[in-house]
Amino acid sequence: MKNLSKIKFIAYSLIVMVLQSCVSENANTKNAATNNPFEAKVDSILKLMTLEEKIGQLNLPSVGQFTTGQATNSDIGGKIEKGLVGGLFNIKTVEKIKEVQKIAVEKSRLKIPLLFGMDVIHGYETTFPIPLGLSCSWDMEMIEKTARIAATEASADGINWTFSPMVDISRDPRWGRVSEGSGEDAFLGSQIAKAMVKGYQGDDLTSNKTIMACVKHFALYGAPDAGRDYNTVDMSKIRMYNEYLPPYKAAVDAGVGSVMASFNEIDGIPATGNRWLLTSLLRNDWGFKGFVVTDYTGINEMTDHGMGDLQQVSALALNAGVDMDMVGEGFLSTLKKSVEEGTVKIADIDAAVKRMLTAKYKLGLFNDPFKYCDDNRAKTDIFTKENRTFARTVAAESMVLLKNDNQLLPLKKSGTIALIGPLANSKQNMPGTWSVATKLDKAISVLDGMTSVIGNQATILYAKGSNLDYDLEFEKHATMFGREIKRDGRTDKQLIDEALGIASKADVVVAALGESSEMSGESSSRSNIQIPQAQKDLLNALLKTGKPVVLVLFTGRPLVIVEENANVPAILNVWFPGSEAGLAISDVLFGDVNPSGKLTATFPMNVGQIPIFYSHKNTGRPLANTEGKFEKFRSNYLDVRNEPLFPFGFGLSYTTFHYGNLQLSSPKMDAKGSMKVSVEVTNSGNFDGKEVVQLYVRDLVGSVTRPVKELKGFQKIELKKGETKTVTFTLTETDLKFYNSNLDFVAEPGMFQVFVGTDSNAKLMKSFELTK
Ligand code: BGC
Repeated sequence: MKNLSKIKFIAYSLIVMVLQSCVSENANTKNAATNNPFEAKVDSILKLMTLEEKIGQLNLPSVGQFTTGQATNSDIGGKIEKGLVGGLFNIKTVEKIKEVQKIAVEKSRLKIPLLFGMDVIHGYETTFPIPLGLSCSWDMEMIEKTARIAATEASADGINWTFSPMVDISRDPRWGRVSEGSGEDAFLGSQIAKAMVKGYQGDDLTSNKTIMACVKHFALYGAPDAGRDYNTVDMSKIRMYNEYLPPYKAAVDAGVGSVMASFNEIDGIPATGNRWLLTSLLRNDWGFKGFVVTDYTGINEMTDHGMGDLQQVSALALNAGVDMDMVGEGFLSTLKKSVEEGTVKIADIDAAVKRMLTAKYKLGLFNDPFKYCDDNRAKTDIFTKENRTFARTVAAESMVLLKNDNQLLPLKKSGTIALIGPLANSKQNMPGTWSVATKLDKAISVLDGMTSVIGNQATILYAKGSNLDYDLEFEKHATMFGREIKRDGRTDKQLIDEALGIASKADVVVAALGESSEMSGESSSRSNIQIPQAQKDLLNALLKTGKPVVLVLFTGRPLVIVEENANVPAILNVWFPGSEAGLAISDVLFGDVNPSGKLTATFPMNVGQIPIFYSHKNTGRPLANTEGKFEKFRSNYLDVRNEPLFPFGFGLSYTTFHYGNLQLSSPKMDAKGSMKVSVEVTNSGNFDGKEVVQLYVRDLVGSVTRPVKELKGFQKIELKKGETKTVTFTLTETDLKFYNSNLDFVAEPGMFQVFVGTDSNAKLMKSFELTK
């Protein structure tokens, strides 16, 4: 007995010595012989591990919130102690995370620290606009800073890994998760992916203010059939490579630490079990060196996809290149058996474990497992005045002015304003979907924001006007997770009558209408993407009063608002602006900020046009007339034009911009050369303002068909009223490259057109030739 204890003690001391020697070396040795500077350390730990402990490193349970003290005695606590957990998610605060980390590093045999993940998607407690809104700022520096602040706040609460950025391109606004991405364009999406990764990870993951990013959902999750979440995706390789994969690749090129496999299938094989995707493309072609995690129960769901029982699908996932199993414990419960039966090789498990341990080294967790557990930082770093001020600015920059007849906006800070609508006095619906760390009661409603911005300069009258919708069942589904719009017990008529009563006393009506926060996001697909009928009826009643009406439109997706666009004089699309919503909305409504957001997803005329996007192909039968009128035997509809309601890149300002004098530095460019494209932009209106100058290219002849336009550059500039600036872009051969039918990335010599303008309808055009 005594001897056994002695042996145990010697073994334990050896382990501690090995781990300590691992961490004492300089972790960032730049000149390491291998690509992985941590390889030797990781190998030395791997040698000590049992198969069970190895598989444990690949296990990622979700814990929800423990109350302090619960973890130690919980089922999860027991598993951590046995070395059966590699990381946890959905747990926050230093106190709780410290408690759980202690179990790992003090009670488990090998003392390997845990990862702590969370969906920090658009800010943490300081919440920025939903990603679709954020993308409409077209401001990469600002977007990077939102991710930096999110990382600082999350890390102050113990978190070291975020399931963001979500870079799924989507051209289908029926899909609720269009709200979580950056819209329809691969070029813009790639810039944003890069900015987000840089923001979260910084230059140094060993800092305690940066966290590891996880690009998701790899891949093509934004193109489900019929816009129904989790549905089948079926896409040609050439479309994938040119239009959907670039943002994921941009994140990988930017050094993203992890990748999340998507729920959908690709070429008939679910992404989670798709070796072509996770190994050939991601690791071999793109050189990704981090780890791959599944989405929530992604492995188990492969059984419903029809890929076999849990043991089969777990083996499939591991063999495809998955390293970490989120929630489903398929790895934990079956991989050992698969090794024994020979369907999984120990070498492949080792490779996955090495990637997990490497990630923990990269984060500096072996040096200090409590690196993110500073007791004081939460008090000083989270939801600070400075962060909130920035969130207010960001929110205003994300808003898109869709219509402004007779310069109804900006409003004067005087007279009487009737603020009406089910979203006018809601705090809970301001942050938007996937804001898990936000404190809903601290968000600023439109009513509160307006009151604070106007002070006593004007009178604000408020009425709810309607419920979210007539349909109670629908309303229940659309107001989950505490993001309620309390149903008003009065009749619809009583609600409208009250609203009309205050409208009659006002100089102007501000109608805060649209989607509730949970009408977009995960599992929130819609087949009818209009404003709910109860609110449409309210809006029509308000319009009938003859008072000027401003529609403040809340939405997580492009909506069909043809009627509203026809009848309402001013429409400001505010998405879900985040924790400072009401203040930012008021800043724009009253002209303290001139709106400059530009749409990153096309607004259709009706759902029948979906998928609709600016960078479509020409077809062999394009319309011959330029007005978009119907033509028989041409590619169009009998009942609607091909054009959208609002195109990609569209957004008005309180001022106007004039474009002229488009110049190319030369009519020809060769493969090694570059081309300067310049344009003069003049602020021709009455306000100082910002403009996103957009450059599009068309490749006129290709070995494969090419889009009618592709975004290849943009610059956000600021112009004083009356000011003119020359904006210059540089194009090189790389900007003209695309994947051909062999999936080679090439530029083909020939004629190109370049367009510069205020949106994707840009008409100023010059041609040039790419020579050999
Ligand atoms: C979502 C992911 C998310 C994960 C963890 C899943 O349902 O698809 O985007 O990161 O849950 O919360």
